[in-house]
Amino acid sequence: MALDVIIVRWLLLVAAVASVLVAPARAGAGAGLAIGFYNETCPNAEELVLEEMRAIVHKDRSLGPALLRLLFHDCFVRGCDGSIMLKSKSLKGERDAIPMSISLRGFNEVERIKAKLEDACPLTVSCADIIIMAARDAVYLTNGPRFPVETGRRDGKVSSCADAENDLAPPGANIVDLKTYFSFKSLSWKDLVVLSGSHTIGTAQCAAFAADRLYNNSGKGVQDPTLDKKYAPDLRALCEPGNLKDETPADMDPGSSYEFDLSYYRNVYSNKGIFVSDQALLDDRWTHDYVERMATAESPDEFFADYAAAMINMGRMEVLTGDNGEIRKICGAYVD
Ligand code: HEM
Ligand SMILES: *[C@@H]1O[C@H](CO)[C@@H](O)[C@H](O)[C@H]1NC(C)=O
Ligand SMILES: *[C@@H]1O[C@H](CO)[C@@H](O)[C@H](O)[C@H]1NC(C)=O
Repeated sequence: MALDVIIVRWLLLVAAVASVLVAPARAGAGAGLAIGFYNETCPNAEELVLEEMRAIVHKDRSLGPALLRLLFHDCFVRGCDGSIMLKSKSLKGERDAIPMSISLRGFNEVERIKAKLEDACPLTVSCADIIIMAARDAVYLTNGPRFPVETGRRDGKVSSCADAENDLAPPGANIVDLKTYFSFKSLSWKDLVVLSGSHTIGTAQCAAFAADRLYNNSGKGVQDPTLDKKYAPDLRALCEPGNLKDETPADMDPGSSYEFDLSYYRNVYSNKGIFVSDQALLDDRWTHDYVERMATAESPDEFFADYAAAMINMGRMEVLTGDNGEIRKICGAYVD
């Protein structure tokens, strides 16, 4: 046998052994979840969620993006376990953390969907699963793709303000920080650049970007030099200088704020992303190339397929399944 063949075989063997060794850890991610987990126990669960979501966004379309963001905040803090819904009388819960308390919405709507599911199948469908199904439907109802999500999560009982403050990237984060926040939760640069595409829908309060982008970049009292100079005046007209609590909402993707499409990438590529964290995607070779490709793509198909895959990845974050956690009747129970 030629030496190169032996070497190749040996390498293949090493690779096979290595993959067996790492297999248990990989299989652990999302174990216990399945597409259609409620097929038998609550066959109409997914239809009922979509029906409620239609009614919710029909009444107030801004609730679609709000519910998509709720999933991001639920998953990054103690995993996708519905703990974002829990309430704390002493104000020490996730909901009381700065990144949440300012503007996170959609709690009543999750409760409303939960009530419907409790009528149909008592104590069967978790709050955590309702949040991801509602987020998936929010994308669909803004003309985005409809993709399957895994279900089978159970609800956590712990809610911590400190976890929420540590685990969510702030809008002023640079690319190194963003990749670190995501890799801490086993998500890749690709998940980061794809899930950031969620900012194609919804609004941001001036408080979240005005200081960094418009008035006091790097604490120097100037506009962010990377922000498009022709776009900046539009944002300056909305946001009051020096008001760090300005709640005025700005469309993150002006002109198509309720269309789940590629325009987020076109904005970022032309320096019109709203946050430092959006602009930052241009500072890494891989995320830059993805933004460029999507900004110039004719069809959203690749983005939509990537988005479905990234949602599966995020949806597996530190989940409780099997006998862990609980199925709560009221999602927003008090922990203290
Ligand atoms: C990469 C790090 C991220 C940062 C720093 C970030 C930051 C923010 C901030 C500051 C807002 C504005 C909130 C407000 O002022 O009302 C926002 C809005 C939003 N974010 Fe993100 N986000 C990130 C990733 C994500 C991900 C992964 C998703 C979903 C999967 C997401 C979905 C949304 C949506 C839909 C909105 C609009 C909410 C609304 O209209 O009520 N974001 N984000
Ligand atoms: C539920 O039904 C769907 C559609 O028939 C199927 O794809 C899925 O695998 C089923 N899931 C389970 C857990 O039975
Ligand atoms: C700008 O930021 C710096 C550093 O954080 C701060 O000391 C200063 O007061 C800020 N200026 C304004 C006008 O908000």
